[in-house]
Amino acid sequence: MPKITVLPHPELCPEGAVVEAATGTSICDALHQHDIDIDSACGGVCACTTCHVIVREGFRSLNEIEEDEEDMLDRAWGLQPLSRLSCQAILQETDVTVEIPKYSINLAKEGHQ
Ligand code: FES
Repeated sequence: MPKITVLPHPELCPEGAVVEAATGTSICDALHQHDIDIDSACGGVCACTTCHVIVREGFRSLNEIEEDEEDMLDRAWGLQPLSRLSCQAILQETDVTVEIPKYSINLAKEGHQ
């Protein structure tokens, strides 16, 4: 089973974590299965950006980005070349390392009003 190394996030995972998940699982589901409560406002149907992660290692091992994911990602806070929507990023055999951005769009809005 591939491992996901989660870099420390102040609220969701202060110490960082290493979790395992079955091949074919989305990164978002895998994190939820291990009580890392990344936002998923749309329920994992590629209609928000709250599940945005940056895949620091293993990016190329994931399934290809579809057009609708790319369109949605364009609106994500802190977009980077290695960004994915974690509900659309499906684990293959390879371990990955992910960073959960400090803000999602929801929180960024709240923080700047
Ligand atoms: S949970 Fe909304 S796009 Fe992933």
